[in-house]
Parts: sequence; structure tokens; C-alpha cells
Amino acid sequence: MKNNQAQGPSARQEINSGVAFFRGELMPFENANVSIATHGLNYGTGCFEGIRAYWNGDHHELYILKAREHFERFLRSAKILKIQVPYSADELVEWTRKMLQANRFEQDVYIRPLAFKGAAMIKVTLSGIRDELGIFAVPMGDYVATEGLKATVSNWVRIADNIIPSRAKVTGAYINAALANDDAALDGYDEAIMLSQDGQVAEASSSNLFVVRQGRLITTPVTADILEGITRQAVFELAADLGFVTEERAIDRTELYVADEVFLCGTGVQLAGVVEIDHRTIGIGETGPMTAALQRAYFQAVRGYDSRHRDWVTPVYEGEGR
Ligand SMILES: Cc1ncc(COP(=O)(O)O)c(C=O)c1O
Repeated sequence: MKNNQAQGPSARQEINSGVAFFRGELMPFENANVSIATHGLNYGTGCFEGIRAYWNGDHHELYILKAREHFERFLRSAKILKIQVPYSADELVEWTRKMLQANRFEQDVYIRPLAFKGAAMIKVTLSGIRDELGIFAVPMGDYVATEGLKATVSNWVRIADNIIPSRAKVTGAYINAALANDDAALDGYDEAIMLSQDGQVAEASSSNLFVVRQGRLITTPVTADILEGITRQAVFELAADLGFVTEERAIDRTELYVADEVFLCGTGVQLAGVVEIDHRTIGIGETGPMTAALQRAYFQAVRGYDSRHRDWVTPVYEGEGR
């Protein structure tokens, strides 16, 4: 099924206008710039989040999805990298609301908080370097199609936690995803699935992965070098609503090929069904029934239509007196 509300521009669009939060204040996006010598730019010593906000035309409201959970993970990533963020998760949610209000968005948007070693400095270390923080947003629709995806198992190996912390959303680590994605795209696939160093499934290049076998939803554990996905957690909640049994355990590569259903989940991909992996048809070759049920529930909840999950969404304009 499609997430069938009006979609915004794609992730490839260049951002050159609007209002950003940077150095503790709102400012025009074009003024939120850094030096060419910035540590984070030279060494990838930064961390970020990807958050979606969904426009609900019926409510005339923009809903930030799982805002608090994203900023809590952001603070955990920063802690691992010894980046000082001088705000609590709740304060960061509030600044994000203010930034979105200033942009007057009335469409789906993607929000990018970014914290990094901000000093113009050569030394390769983490301690004693000035940190910077920014948050900006861009209109965005579906990142990839939400059905019919063709994937391949990448020959690039997913970064291990003791190489670059995999549960932190580290800027430099996305070289790994970019290498895998680029190769997959040039070979005609929509997505790359990453194995860990031991040859077992970790996740997809920028999303977590579930397989369905014998009616059970199975995903890899948080110790499998994955990013601890917020959407993955949302899937557990929706699975409980739907009475689906879930299991966290290691997944072998060839279990992908014989699974009844495979889907990816993440802020960008949302919930996307995979129909083919390495030229093998998955299940019946179209989005399976459990994936479709989860997609329906997800797209209702993210736009604030599911009263059981109203706590997933933070209204941007509420109380603003429009
Ligand atoms: C490597 C990686 N894994 C998993 C995910 C899914 O995480 P989330 O559901 O929090 O967006 C993402 C996307 O943010 C990602 O980049």
C-alpha cells in the first residue's frame, strides 16, 4: 500500500532557503555556515538525527513523529562522541517546533538535527574541542518507494560497534551506507542489505529489517551492529496492537531468500516491502499481508489519526494561536 497523501520533493533536492536553528538561535538558513577547517567536516566527528514531521490537512497541523525518542538518541550519540549538547531532549523538541513554525511548513518535512566538533582544528581527537549544534528541515515526501523494493546483499560490510559505534548516528559512518547504496543503485537495486563481520544480517543501508517466517516477525537484536531504530520500536508497538508475535534474534543471509515477507523500516524509508532479494522472489512477489497491515497502521499513526498512538506525535502549531 502507498502512503498516499501529497508528497513533497525528493531527498536529492538542494537546500538553500528557510529558517534554521544554529548557535542557539533561529537564523536564515544561508547564514548557518561553518569554516572549511571544521573538525566535523574533515573527520566526520559529528552525530545527527533524521526525523519526519507529517502534515495532517484535516487537523491543519504538522506532527513531529517520535520527537522525544529521536532527541534522546541524539543525546546518546553525542555522549559516545563526547559532544556537549547544552539542551535537554525536551528543549531540543521545543527549538525544533519553533524552527518549523518559523518556516510555516504545511507539508511533510524531514528534520535534521546535527551536532559536531566545531573547532577549526587539525588534531584528531574528541576531547577539548568546541562543539556546534544546528537543526534544519526540508520538505520531503517518500524517500524511496514503500512497496515493490528490490534489494541486494551488499559486499560492503556493516560497520562494527567497536570500529565506529553502530548504535550512534555518526556522520562519518554514513560513508558505509553511501558505498553500499551507490553500488546497489548502479546495479539496478533499490536497497542494499548489510551483513555484519560474522556474515549475518545486520540491517539495510539506512533502515532496520524485519523478516516474516511462519507467521512471526523477526528482526536482528540491538547487539547486531544495528542502529537502534525508532521505527523498529514503533513496529513492535504496532505488532502488539495487531496481535503479531515478534522475535529478536540473529538472521542468516539465506533466511532472507526463503522468508515469506521482508520489509524495511526507518524514518526515511518509512515501512517498505521488499519483493526481491538477489534475484530471488520474496514470498508471493508483492507486499505481504503482515507488512501491509503494519503499513496501514503506521501511516495512520504518523499523521495523528490513531488515538492509541497520539503520544507518538508532537503538534507544531498547537497553542500558537493561529
Ligand atoms: C543505519 C540506519 N539504520 C536504521 C535506521 C532506522 O532508524 P530510525 O527508525 O530511527 O529512523 C536508520 C535511519 O535513520 C539508519 O540510518
